[in-house]
Amino acid sequence: MGEGIAQNFAQGGLSVRVFDQNTDILTRCFNQVGANLRLFAEFGLLPKEPSLILSRMEFHLARELEKKIKDCAFVVESIPEVLPQKRELFARLDSCHQDVILSSNTSSFTMSAIAEGMRTPGRVIGLHYFMPAHIVPLVEIHRGKNTADEVVEVTRQLMVKVGKKPVLVGKEVPGLIVNRIQTAMMREANYLVEQGVVTPEDFDMAARASYGFRLASLGPFAQLDINGLDTVMRGNEQIYKVLSNTTEPSPAIVEKVKRGELGLKSGQGYYDYRGKSKEQIIEERDRNLLKQLILFNQL
Ligand SMILES: NC(=O)c1ccc[n+]([C@@H]2O[C@H](COP(=O)([O-])OP(=O)(O)OC[C@H]3O[C@@H](n4cnc5c(N)ncnc54)[C@H](O)[C@@H]3O)[C@@H](O)[C@H]2O)c1
Repeated sequence: MGEGIAQNFAQGGLSVRVFDQNTDILTRCFNQVGANLRLFAEFGLLPKEPSLILSRMEFHLARELEKKIKDCAFVVESIPEVLPQKRELFARLDSCHQDVILSSNTSSFTMSAIAEGMRTPGRVIGLHYFMPAHIVPLVEIHRGKNTADEVVEVTRQLMVKVGKKPVLVGKEVPGLIVNRIQTAMMREANYLVEQGVVTPEDFDMAARASYGFRLASLGPFAQLDINGLDTVMRGNEQIYKVLSNTTEPSPAIVEKVKRGELGLKSGQGYYDYRGKSKEQIIEERDRNLLKQLILFNQL
């Protein structure tokens, strides 16, 4: 995720310093951002040369963090989703200049949990990007119990400046907004597959060609208004009762994980990716998403 976030800031006109523990990862990041920018240029989405945007980025080892971060104004942490590791990093960041805003791309921890034990929790804020971070427009901004109002507002304005669509999450809730909705939807989708109602392939087509097709231009609440709320209410009365409310992961996913079928990274999941490179599949995905981004920007 880190490389997409770094690209987003550099594309938005800002100087960026990328830190990782590993030189190979920094090199991979440089190469991947270069390839991403060339794809943006091919789709006419880049006002400047890719090389000019890349020249705004510096790459450093994490051991140089304290030295190289001195004149930074905004930090985005995107290390693995392991709470002690995040807390250790925020403890290091606690000593940097008070004006620096410290954000985290965490998907599942509250910012109060990450900031626990810090002297300066008021400047800590959640900034949740979506994969691929350099393309998907949304970022969820979420605060900890001590986050200052001004920090929320500066972060929101910064996201607008770098071309994102920020949404504020009003309370500390696990999964924030989008992951809760995606998880609820996939609980039901897995249930329908288990019950023999639909295959994963047909479910994917049903989702893409119906509500997925509509969603980018018409939000679900706006859609309810068009449907008519009385009709919606009658539908809720019938359907809520029969939806899955399981609290366990899908048995099909548990089985696949046991067999080592982890999806794209292992070559097999719901689909078979063997015979195609991961890079090819990701580039194909990005090409389709960039076509959508052009349309989304016109809405
Ligand atoms: N993968 C997703 O789809 C996704 C989506 C939204 C948010 N997130 C969140 O983004 C964060 C990162 O996820 P990811 O999938 O990119 O993980 P990842 O494991 O692919 O990348 C993490 C990187 O952090 C580096 N790292 C580890 N410790 C470090 C340290 N102390 N200093 C500097 N670099 C360090 C690692 O070398 C690695 O390159 C997590 O909090 C995750 O929940 C992930």
